Amino acid sequence: MEKLIITGVNGLLGQKICEQAHSKYEILGIDLHDEPFNRKIKFDYRKLDLTIRKSVKELILSYHPQYLVNTAAMTDVDGCETQKELCWKLNVETVDNIAYAARKTGTKIVHLSSDYVFDGQSGPYSEEDIPQPLGYYGKSKLASENILIAMEVEHATVRTMVLYGSGTNVRPNFVTWLIEKLKKGEPVKIVTDQFGNPTLADDLAHAIIQIIEQKKWDLFHISGSETIDRYNCALKIAEVFKLNKNLIASITTPELNQNAPRPLKSGFILDKAETELGIKMSNIEEGLKHMRKQDKKFIFF
Ligand SMILES: NC(=O)c1ccc[n+]([C@@H]2O[C@H](COP(=O)([O-])OP(=O)(O)OC[C@H]3O[C@@H](n4cnc5c(N)ncnc54)[C@H](OP(=O)(O)O)[C@@H]3O)[C@@H](O)[C@H]2O)c1
Repeated sequence: MEKLIITGVNGLLGQKICEQAHSKYEILGIDLHDEPFNRKIKFDYRKLDLTIRKSVKELILSYHPQYLVNTAAMTDVDGCETQKELCWKLNVETVDNIAYAARKTGTKIVHLSSDYVFDGQSGPYSEEDIPQPLGYYGKSKLASENILIAMEVEHATVRTMVLYGSGTNVRPNFVTWLIEKLKKGEPVKIVTDQFGNPTLADDLAHAIIQIIEQKKWDLFHISGSETIDRYNCALKIAEVFKLNKNLIASITTPELNQNAPRPLKSGFILDKAETELGIKMSNIEEGLKHMRKQDKKFIFF
Protein backbone atom coordinates (compact mmCIF):
# COMPACT_ATOMS: atom_id res chain seq x y z
CA MET A 1 0.00 0.00 0.00
CA GLU A 2 1.16 3.54 -0.71
CA LYS A 3 1.77 5.74 2.33
CA LEU A 4 -0.16 8.90 3.11
CA ILE A 5 0.51 11.41 5.90
CA ILE A 6 -2.48 13.52 6.95
CA THR A 7 -1.52 16.56 9.02
CA GLY A 8 -4.23 18.09 11.21
CA VAL A 9 -5.86 14.64 11.33
CA ASN A 10 -7.88 15.66 14.43
CA GLY A 11 -9.50 18.57 12.56
CA LEU A 12 -12.77 18.28 10.66
CA LEU A 13 -11.28 17.81 7.20
CA GLY A 14 -8.43 15.64 8.48
CA GLN A 15 -10.91 13.23 10.06
CA LYS A 16 -12.98 12.97 6.88
CA ILE A 17 -9.95 12.29 4.67
CA CYS A 18 -8.74 9.66 7.11
CA GLU A 19 -12.14 7.93 7.15
CA GLN A 20 -12.36 7.83 3.35
CA ALA A 21 -8.72 6.97 2.59
CA HIS A 22 -7.83 4.41 5.24
CA SER A 23 -8.87 1.38 3.18
CA LYS A 24 -6.74 2.49 0.22
CA TYR A 25 -3.61 3.91 1.86
CA GLU A 26 -1.36 3.22 4.82
CA ILE A 27 -2.09 6.32 6.89
CA LEU A 28 -0.02 8.20 9.42
CA GLY A 29 -2.04 10.96 11.07
CA ILE A 30 -0.31 13.92 12.70
CA ASP A 31 -1.67 16.49 15.11
CA LEU A 32 -0.86 18.38 18.31
CA HIS A 33 -2.84 16.21 20.71
CA ASP A 34 -1.77 13.12 22.68
CA GLU A 35 -4.31 10.85 20.98
CA PRO A 36 -6.29 10.71 17.73
CA PHE A 37 -9.84 12.04 18.20
CA ASN A 38 -11.49 9.77 15.65
CA ARG A 39 -11.69 6.24 17.05
CA LYS A 40 -14.09 4.91 14.38
CA ILE A 41 -11.15 3.67 12.33
CA LYS A 42 -7.66 2.36 13.02
CA PHE A 43 -4.62 4.26 11.75
CA ASP A 44 -1.14 5.14 12.96
CA TYR A 45 -0.95 8.42 14.83
CA ARG A 46 1.93 10.65 15.92
CA LYS A 47 1.78 13.73 18.11
CA LEU A 48 3.95 16.26 16.31
CA ASP A 49 4.18 20.04 16.13
CA LEU A 50 4.77 21.01 12.51
CA THR A 51 6.51 24.23 13.57
CA ILE A 52 9.49 22.14 14.76
CA ARG A 53 11.48 21.81 11.56
CA LYS A 54 13.81 19.08 12.81
CA SER A 55 10.93 16.81 13.89
CA VAL A 56 9.10 17.31 10.60
CA LYS A 57 12.23 16.48 8.62
CA GLU A 58 13.00 13.37 10.69
CA LEU A 59 9.46 12.07 10.43
CA ILE A 60 9.08 12.57 6.68
CA LEU A 61 12.54 11.17 5.93
CA SER A 62 11.97 8.07 8.05
CA TYR A 63 8.34 7.39 7.04
CA HIS A 64 9.01 8.28 3.38
CA PRO A 65 5.37 8.73 2.30
CA GLN A 66 4.27 8.95 -1.32
CA TYR A 67 1.71 11.62 -0.38
CA LEU A 68 1.04 14.18 2.34
CA VAL A 69 -2.21 16.12 2.74
CA ASN A 70 -1.65 19.26 4.78
CA THR A 71 -4.86 20.28 6.52
CA ALA A 72 -3.13 21.59 9.69
CA ALA A 73 -3.46 25.33 10.13
CA MET A 74 -4.47 28.16 12.41
CA THR A 75 -8.05 28.56 11.16
CA ASP A 76 -9.26 31.21 13.64
CA VAL A 77 -9.47 34.16 11.23
CA ASP A 78 -9.89 36.84 13.91
CA GLY A 79 -7.14 35.25 16.02
CA CYS A 80 -4.78 35.46 13.03
CA GLU A 81 -5.44 39.21 12.84
CA THR A 82 -4.45 39.79 16.48
CA GLN A 83 -1.68 37.14 16.72
CA LYS A 84 0.14 37.69 13.44
CA GLU A 85 3.42 36.05 14.46
CA LEU A 86 1.70 32.88 15.62
CA CYS A 87 -0.41 32.83 12.46
CA TRP A 88 2.72 33.09 10.27
CA LYS A 89 4.45 30.36 12.25
CA LEU A 90 1.49 27.97 11.97
CA ASN A 91 0.27 28.73 8.46
CA VAL A 92 3.48 29.56 6.59
CA GLU A 93 6.57 28.22 8.37
CA THR A 94 4.97 24.79 8.79
CA VAL A 95 4.51 24.57 5.01
CA ASP A 96 8.14 25.50 4.48
CA ASN A 97 9.15 22.74 6.93
CA ILE A 98 6.99 20.16 5.14
CA ALA A 99 8.09 21.20 1.65
CA TYR A 100 11.78 21.12 2.61
CA ALA A 101 11.53 17.48 3.70
CA ALA A 102 9.05 16.41 1.00
CA ARG A 103 11.48 17.56 -1.69
CA LYS A 104 14.05 15.11 -0.38
CA THR A 105 11.65 12.14 -0.37
CA GLY A 106 9.72 13.03 -3.54
CA THR A 107 6.52 13.16 -1.47
CA LYS A 108 3.62 14.78 -3.34
CA ILE A 109 1.70 17.35 -1.28
CA VAL A 110 -1.95 18.34 -1.32
CA HIS A 111 -2.14 21.66 0.52
CA LEU A 112 -5.30 23.39 1.79
CA SER A 113 -5.83 27.08 1.18
CA SER A 114 -8.79 29.43 1.34
CA ASP A 115 -11.09 31.83 -0.50
CA TYR A 116 -9.70 34.45 1.92
CA VAL A 117 -6.83 34.91 -0.57
CA PHE A 118 -9.41 37.03 -2.50
CA ASP A 119 -10.79 40.43 -1.53
CA GLY A 120 -14.44 39.53 -2.16
CA GLN A 121 -15.10 42.42 -4.54
CA SER A 122 -16.09 40.28 -7.50
CA GLY A 123 -16.74 36.61 -6.65
CA PRO A 124 -17.40 33.89 -7.59
CA TYR A 125 -13.74 33.30 -8.40
CA SER A 126 -11.98 30.90 -10.78
CA GLU A 127 -8.40 29.64 -10.48
CA GLU A 128 -7.40 32.32 -13.04
CA ASP A 129 -8.39 35.24 -10.81
CA ILE A 130 -5.68 37.24 -9.09
CA PRO A 131 -5.54 36.90 -5.28
CA GLN A 132 -5.72 40.06 -3.18
CA PRO A 133 -6.10 39.10 0.48
CA LEU A 134 -7.73 41.56 2.87
CA GLY A 135 -6.68 40.14 6.23
CA TYR A 136 -3.72 38.36 7.78
CA TYR A 137 -5.20 34.85 7.58
CA GLY A 138 -5.65 35.28 3.81
CA LYS A 139 -2.14 36.72 3.48
CA SER A 140 -0.68 33.76 5.36
CA LYS A 141 -2.56 31.26 3.18
CA LEU A 142 -1.39 32.98 -0.02
CA ALA A 143 2.20 32.96 1.29
CA SER A 144 1.86 29.22 2.01
CA GLU A 145 0.74 28.58 -1.59
CA ASN A 146 3.72 30.56 -2.89
CA ILE A 147 6.20 28.59 -0.78
CA LEU A 148 5.15 25.36 -2.49
CA ILE A 149 5.57 26.97 -5.91
CA ALA A 150 8.96 28.47 -5.00
CA MET A 151 10.24 25.20 -3.50
CA GLU A 152 9.38 23.38 -6.75
CA VAL A 153 7.89 20.44 -4.88
CA GLU A 154 5.20 18.50 -6.74
CA HIS A 155 1.89 19.57 -5.21
CA ALA A 156 -1.77 20.47 -5.59
CA THR A 157 -3.25 23.49 -3.83
CA VAL A 158 -6.94 23.25 -2.95
CA ARG A 159 -8.70 26.47 -2.03
CA THR A 160 -11.94 25.91 -0.17
CA MET A 161 -14.38 27.85 2.04
CA VAL A 162 -16.90 27.63 4.92
CA LEU A 163 -16.32 23.99 5.80
CA TYR A 164 -19.05 22.20 7.70
CA GLY A 165 -19.82 18.69 8.84
CA SER A 166 -19.70 16.58 11.95
CA GLY A 167 -16.55 15.18 13.52
CA THR A 168 -15.29 14.04 16.91
CA ASN A 169 -14.16 16.90 19.22
CA VAL A 170 -13.77 19.28 16.27
CA ARG A 171 -14.06 23.07 16.57
CA PRO A 172 -17.59 24.36 15.97
CA ASN A 173 -18.24 25.27 12.32
CA PHE A 174 -21.03 27.59 11.11
CA VAL A 175 -23.56 24.76 10.89
CA THR A 176 -22.80 23.02 14.20
CA TRP A 177 -22.51 26.41 15.99
CA LEU A 178 -25.92 27.51 14.73
CA ILE A 179 -27.54 24.16 15.55
CA GLU A 180 -26.27 24.42 19.14
CA LYS A 181 -27.60 27.99 19.53
CA LEU A 182 -31.03 27.18 18.08
CA LYS A 183 -31.30 23.99 20.11
CA LYS A 184 -30.77 26.02 23.29
CA GLY A 185 -33.38 28.53 22.12
CA GLU A 186 -30.82 31.36 21.92
CA PRO A 187 -31.44 34.20 19.43
CA VAL A 188 -28.69 34.80 16.83
CA LYS A 189 -27.84 37.63 14.43
CA ILE A 190 -26.52 36.49 11.06
CA VAL A 191 -24.99 38.63 8.31
CA THR A 192 -26.89 39.19 5.09
CA ASP A 193 -23.93 40.61 3.13
CA GLN A 194 -21.37 37.76 3.24
CA PHE A 195 -21.71 35.42 0.26
CA GLY A 196 -19.89 32.13 -0.20
CA ASN A 197 -20.25 28.44 -1.04
CA PRO A 198 -20.56 26.36 2.16
CA THR A 199 -18.65 23.10 1.71
CA LEU A 200 -19.53 19.70 3.13
CA ALA A 201 -16.23 18.37 4.51
CA ASP A 202 -17.08 14.83 3.29
CA ASP A 203 -17.34 16.09 -0.33
CA LEU A 204 -14.04 17.92 -0.06
CA ALA A 205 -12.31 14.84 1.37
CA HIS A 206 -13.56 12.82 -1.62
CA ALA A 207 -12.25 15.47 -4.03
CA ILE A 208 -8.82 15.47 -2.36
CA ILE A 209 -8.56 11.70 -2.69
CA GLN A 210 -9.45 12.06 -6.38
CA ILE A 211 -6.57 14.52 -6.79
CA ILE A 212 -4.18 11.94 -5.36
CA GLU A 213 -5.58 9.00 -7.31
CA GLN A 214 -5.61 10.90 -10.60
CA LYS A 215 -2.27 12.61 -9.89
CA LYS A 216 -3.61 16.10 -10.68
CA TRP A 217 -0.86 18.32 -9.29
CA ASP A 218 -2.48 21.68 -9.92
CA LEU A 219 -4.51 24.53 -8.35
CA PHE A 220 -8.20 23.78 -7.69
CA HIS A 221 -11.12 25.75 -6.30
CA ILE A 222 -13.29 23.20 -4.47
CA SER A 223 -16.37 24.18 -2.47
CA GLY A 224 -20.09 23.48 -2.27
CA SER A 225 -21.88 24.12 -5.55
CA GLU A 226 -24.17 26.91 -4.34
CA THR A 227 -23.37 30.55 -3.56
CA ILE A 228 -25.54 31.78 -0.70
CA ASP A 229 -25.45 34.54 1.92
CA ARG A 230 -24.99 33.54 5.55
CA TYR A 231 -28.47 34.65 6.62
CA ASN A 232 -30.26 32.53 4.03
CA CYS A 233 -27.88 29.68 4.78
CA ALA A 234 -28.88 29.93 8.45
CA LEU A 235 -32.58 29.75 7.51
CA LYS A 236 -31.83 26.64 5.43
CA ILE A 237 -30.02 25.04 8.37
CA ALA A 238 -33.01 25.71 10.66
CA GLU A 239 -35.33 24.21 8.01
CA VAL A 240 -33.34 21.02 7.43
CA PHE A 241 -32.71 20.37 11.13
CA LYS A 242 -36.27 21.39 12.04
CA LEU A 243 -35.18 24.15 14.44
CA ASN A 244 -36.81 27.50 15.23
CA LYS A 245 -36.25 29.97 12.35
CA ASN A 246 -37.71 32.84 14.37
CA LEU A 247 -34.56 32.95 16.52
CA ILE A 248 -32.55 34.10 13.46
CA ALA A 249 -32.31 37.86 12.90
CA SER A 250 -30.33 39.66 10.20
CA ILE A 251 -27.35 41.99 10.66
CA THR A 252 -24.68 43.47 8.36
CA THR A 253 -20.92 42.93 8.52
CA PRO A 254 -20.03 46.52 9.58
CA GLU A 255 -22.39 46.15 12.56
CA LEU A 256 -20.57 42.98 13.68
CA ASN A 257 -17.19 44.67 14.31
CA GLN A 258 -15.07 41.56 13.70
CA ASN A 259 -11.27 41.84 14.08
CA ALA A 260 -10.50 40.58 10.59
CA PRO A 261 -12.00 41.95 7.37
CA ARG A 262 -14.06 39.40 5.40
CA PRO A 263 -14.29 38.97 1.62
CA LEU A 264 -17.98 39.78 1.19
CA LYS A 265 -18.77 38.64 -2.33
CA SER A 266 -16.87 35.37 -2.44
CA GLY A 267 -17.80 32.03 -3.99
CA PHE A 268 -16.01 29.70 -6.40
CA ILE A 269 -16.47 28.63 -9.99
CA LEU A 270 -16.08 24.85 -9.88
CA ASP A 271 -15.78 24.06 -13.60
CA LYS A 272 -12.11 23.08 -13.49
CA ALA A 273 -12.44 20.78 -10.45
CA GLU A 274 -15.64 19.16 -11.69
CA THR A 275 -14.31 18.56 -15.19
CA GLU A 276 -10.78 17.48 -14.35
CA LEU A 277 -11.54 15.43 -11.25
CA GLY A 278 -15.00 14.15 -12.24
CA ILE A 279 -16.49 15.25 -8.92
CA LYS A 280 -19.94 16.57 -8.08
CA MET A 281 -20.17 18.86 -5.07
CA SER A 282 -23.39 19.09 -3.00
CA ASN A 283 -25.48 22.24 -2.79
CA ILE A 284 -26.35 23.47 0.71
CA GLU A 285 -29.58 21.51 1.09
CA GLU A 286 -28.00 18.26 -0.13
CA GLY A 287 -25.02 18.77 2.17
CA LEU A 288 -27.11 19.49 5.27
CA LYS A 289 -29.37 16.52 4.59
CA HIS A 290 -26.31 14.29 4.23
CA MET A 291 -25.02 15.53 7.59
CA ARG A 292 -28.39 14.94 9.27
CA LYS A 293 -28.58 11.41 7.91
CA GLN A 294 -24.98 10.60 8.77
CA ASP A 295 -25.02 11.57 12.44
CA LYS A 296 -27.99 10.72 14.64
CA LYS A 297 -27.05 13.45 17.11
CA PHE A 298 -28.39 15.95 14.56
CA ILE A 299 -31.86 14.46 14.42
CA PHE A 300 -34.01 16.40 16.87
CA PHE A 301 -37.54 15.93 15.60
N1 LIG B 1 -12.76 25.63 8.21
C1 LIG B 1 -13.01 26.38 7.14
O1 LIG B 1 -14.09 26.94 6.97
C2 LIG B 1 -11.93 26.55 6.09
C3 LIG B 1 -12.15 27.44 5.03
C4 LIG B 1 -11.15 27.60 4.07
C5 LIG B 1 -9.98 26.87 4.17
N2 LIG B 1 -9.79 26.03 5.21
C6 LIG B 1 -8.51 25.32 5.33
O2 LIG B 1 -8.78 23.92 5.35
C7 LIG B 1 -7.85 23.25 6.23
C8 LIG B 1 -8.61 22.37 7.20
O3 LIG B 1 -9.55 23.14 7.94
P1 LIG B 1 -10.29 22.52 9.22
O4 LIG B 1 -11.48 23.39 9.48
O5 LIG B 1 -10.47 21.05 9.05
O6 LIG B 1 -9.20 22.84 10.36
P2 LIG B 1 -9.27 22.50 11.91
O7 LIG B 1 -10.51 21.74 12.24
O8 LIG B 1 -8.92 23.73 12.66
O9 LIG B 1 -8.06 21.44 12.01
C9 LIG B 1 -6.72 21.79 11.93
C10 LIG B 1 -5.95 20.83 12.82
O10 LIG B 1 -4.55 21.14 12.70
C11 LIG B 1 -3.99 21.13 14.01
N3 LIG B 1 -2.78 21.94 14.04
C12 LIG B 1 -2.69 23.29 14.13
N4 LIG B 1 -1.40 23.65 14.20
C13 LIG B 1 -0.66 22.52 14.13
C14 LIG B 1 0.73 22.25 14.19
N5 LIG B 1 1.64 23.24 14.35
N6 LIG B 1 1.16 20.96 14.11
C15 LIG B 1 0.26 19.96 13.99
N7 LIG B 1 -1.07 20.17 13.94
C16 LIG B 1 -1.53 21.42 14.02
C17 LIG B 1 -5.12 21.72 14.87
O11 LIG B 1 -4.92 21.50 16.25
P3 LIG B 1 -5.59 22.55 17.29
O12 LIG B 1 -7.07 22.50 17.03
O13 LIG B 1 -5.20 22.05 18.63
O14 LIG B 1 -5.01 23.89 16.95
C18 LIG B 1 -6.33 20.97 14.31
O15 LIG B 1 -6.50 19.72 14.91
C19 LIG B 1 -7.00 24.36 6.86
O16 LIG B 1 -5.79 24.45 6.16
C20 LIG B 1 -7.81 25.62 6.63
O17 LIG B 1 -6.98 26.75 6.55
C21 LIG B 1 -10.74 25.84 6.18
